[in-house]
Amino acid sequence: MQTFRTIKALTQCLKGYRTAGLRVGFVPTMGFLHAGHRALIAESVARCDITVVSIFVNPTQFGPNEDLDRYPRALEADHDLCRTAGVNLIFVPDASEIYPPGFQTYVEPGPVAEPLCGAVRPGHFRGVATVVSKLFAIVQPEVAFFGQKDFQQCAVIRQLVRDLNLNVEIVTVPTVREADGLALSSRNSYLSAADRARARCLSRGLFAAHAAFQAGERDSQRLVDLARAAMTEVNRLQYLELRNAETLEAIPELVERPAVLCVAAYVGTTRLIDNVLLTPPPTALSDHELELVSRAIGRQATVAAEGPQAL
Ligand code: PAJ
Repeated sequence: MQTFRTIKALTQCLKGYRTAGLRVGFVPTMGFLHAGHRALIAESVARCDITVVSIFVNPTQFGPNEDLDRYPRALEADHDLCRTAGVNLIFVPDASEIYPPGFQTYVEPGPVAEPLCGAVRPGHFRGVATVVSKLFAIVQPEVAFFGQKDFQQCAVIRQLVRDLNLNVEIVTVPTVREADGLALSSRNSYLSAADRARARCLSRGLFAAHAAFQAGERDSQRLVDLARAAMTEVNRLQYLELRNAETLEAIPELVERPAVLCVAAYVGTTRLIDNVLLTPPPTALSDHELELVSRAIGRQATVAAEGPQAL
């Protein structure tokens, strides 16, 4: 495993791999790696010849009153995790390598970045879209891996790749959770023991809504209410919303297309996010409809065998 701090050294090394025809997979991260990141890395190692991980706490995606300065860092442990997970190259640039003096061009995402985290963290997705575009341009991977845990981030990146004709396949990896359901996050390290116990109620609420949905509940308000009822232990529910899983548009009354229930909440002073997908099964037919269909199929079979006079 090799570690690079400069774009020049990294791209030189990658050029060699590319001319050898090797498939490059990329996992962008902000470090303080955990089993969620490891799942993304494992997916890349399984699908690609070379796996590149970037570790960069990107200043442009943090608001002025957010946790940029105290964001957890553990570079040595990150190296160990990467080495044992089969990573080939780590890219750990300084902020001045990514944003040198005179930097002035940003990537501005559209409506998909407006609701949810976009509404409560103005400029956040502009920072994410900008740094991910730059990292894609530097690494030029065939495939890049993102976690479903940051559902809106995945949607923003997919839209970015479509809109800017970037030649990168985006793979979304399911959320990795603690045994009690809490989604792994670098920010979980901020939680006190008592807050850690309280944080469970977020996934409990999401799973309750998911179970009701599986049992046939389609009323969006009732699904949201059900989740909210379990989330009483948080200090502040920032948002809890059911959205179209592709466009992130609001869902009117009934969930008829794939939807995602997204939550952001403060537990103590720590802001946590999570989500669960609600995917309706292909439309089921009633017994009466099934009978009509099979009768029609039977008639067609007769027509096919005996000719149209059978009609
Ligand atoms: P970071 O929070 O370090 O996350 C890096 C990647 O790991 C993201 O794609 C995130 O969705 C994924 N991830 C985090 N927790 C996960 C979990 N419990 N299960 C599965 N995947 C998980 O997201 C960022 O960094 C930054 O915004 C970045 C994309 C690197 C741009 O700066």
